[in-house]
Amino acid sequence: MLSSLILLWIGFGLLFFLFRTRRPKNFPPGPRPIPIFGNLLQLNLADLLNDLRKAPHNMPIHFISIFRDKCKLSERYGKVYSIYIGRKPAVVLNGVQAMKEALATQSLVFAGRPQDLMINHAGEFKGVALTTGPIWKEHRRFALITLRNFGLGKQSMEERILGEISYITSHLEKNAGKAIDPQILFHKAAFNIICSVLIGIRFKHEDEFLKLNIHYITESTTILNGPWAMIYDMLPLLRHLPLPFQKVFQNSANMRKSLGEQVSQHKKTRVPGEPRDLTDCYLDEMEKRGDDGSSFSEKQLIACLLDLLFAGTDTTSNTLLFAFLHLMTHPDVQERCQKEIDEVLGEKEQASFEDRHMMPYTQAMIHEAQRVADTVPLSAFHATTKDTRLMGYDIPKGTLIIPNLSSVLNEESQWKFPHDFNPSNFLNDKGEFVKPEAFMPFSAGARVCLGEGLARMELFLILVTLLRRFKFVWPEDAGVPDYTPIFGITQGPKPYRLGVRLRDRASLH
Ligand code: HEM
Ligand SMILES: *[C@@H]1O[C@H](CO)[C@@H](O)[C@H](O)[C@H]1NC(C)=O
Repeated sequence: MLSSLILLWIGFGLLFFLFRTRRPKNFPPGPRPIPIFGNLLQLNLADLLNDLRKAPHNMPIHFISIFRDKCKLSERYGKVYSIYIGRKPAVVLNGVQAMKEALATQSLVFAGRPQDLMINHAGEFKGVALTTGPIWKEHRRFALITLRNFGLGKQSMEERILGEISYITSHLEKNAGKAIDPQILFHKAAFNIICSVLIGIRFKHEDEFLKLNIHYITESTTILNGPWAMIYDMLPLLRHLPLPFQKVFQNSANMRKSLGEQVSQHKKTRVPGEPRDLTDCYLDEMEKRGDDGSSFSEKQLIACLLDLLFAGTDTTSNTLLFAFLHLMTHPDVQERCQKEIDEVLGEKEQASFEDRHMMPYTQAMIHEAQRVADTVPLSAFHATTKDTRLMGYDIPKGTLIIPNLSSVLNEESQWKFPHDFNPSNFLNDKGEFVKPEAFMPFSAGARVCLGEGLARMELFLILVTLLRRFKFVWPEDAGVPDYTPIFGITQGPKPYRLGVRLRDRASLH
């Protein structure tokens, strides 16, 4: 008995010794890691256990909420501190100064991506969001230019967005006087807008392709936020076992297959030089490049489509969900936007993105909604591409970097009303729209959201069109509104009901 205890003890000691982790020299400070887990268990365990106990059995547990860091490590260790994820050191950036110095000033040094997390393996090292080097550079450039050129094309981005909005409007009209769950509606709308840009198709809301792919996205996101992704990242030995995280790989494979079918269709029906959508543009580009040694290929195209679908669906719809939650519960803000929209649009049939320049208050409201929505709180993880120095610390090449965008969007020294929903955060004394440098919901630098232009156009056109036609009211029986987000890689509000009323001026038409 005693000898086995001693053996166990020695075993543990050996384990600690073998897996002991030491911070590199002059590395940002942080809590002392324990073997295997690093600092993950110290970060937020009490909170997590609490969530586990309270959550209804059908609610996914967001293990990633460990990263909420209730321990206030940045207060203890400073704006730039480090934690260990398993055996891997990561540097957390807090506040606008550190964020700018890393992501903007040293843009390319901080523009890498970690390559050994589950999410990267699911991406098979192709596409744009998770790659580095020439593949990333070439595809990012292609996607940016293509999305920009849609403004000029035959069917412009704006028309595609307005097309989808007409379906939202008719759904809401049918439900005027009632309260609906807006989540699926916005989710499908965001998905459809991107599909229209990528593959030129808008799906009926009952369509199987749409439902299935949204299911894949939702399920994979839940797993990526959950305990299995963390186990995958910490314990490489388990990666090939048939554990629940394999679902993420299956889902990606299924999506690649159905997107591959769309690409084959395009190859049959396309007219070279007359692109209908991003896929056609890519096939033109492939033809133009021939064998010039660049990374363009059909596999890369499919990976890009997947990336854009993943990156553009939840983000946009969660931002909309937060915007409408705040509009319902701040009727004064809603009415002021409506007054401005009515005045600027007059008898015009549809809003256009250009109208934003005449709507400073509405612009301020939309930016404020993005600020409080805080949709991607820790951005996407970065990695350093060379040894570097940041705010006096040395950070080796290949270090995982976690940009805490939340910390900037809520930074007390940067905002007039950091803790409220108040469009005045984006208005100067003259009532003009201004954008403080701490507005970084799309991150910053070389990796800044590739869909920013599209996302901003979507938010503006959807919000303006719906506010013009409807009044949104917090249902009387809904109790006190809860603004606490459900934490995740992308976060949204808890489910709520949207009370829909037709506006008087809309009934005049
Ligand atoms: C309100 C909506 C959106 C928000 C808040 C948002 C936010 C972000 C953030 C924070 C990042 C990480 C940047 C970084 O690594 O530092 C990102 C990356 C990205 N986003 Fe968005 N995004 C939105 C909509 C979209 C849309 C509609 C698309 C699709 C066209 C899109 C495509 C991408 C892509 C491809 C990346 C990866 C870029 C790269 O790694 O170079 N996003 N986004
Ligand atoms: C990120 O910033 C928020 C807001 O300042 C803070 O509450 C949270 O602890 C920070 N998270 C990390 C991982 O540092």
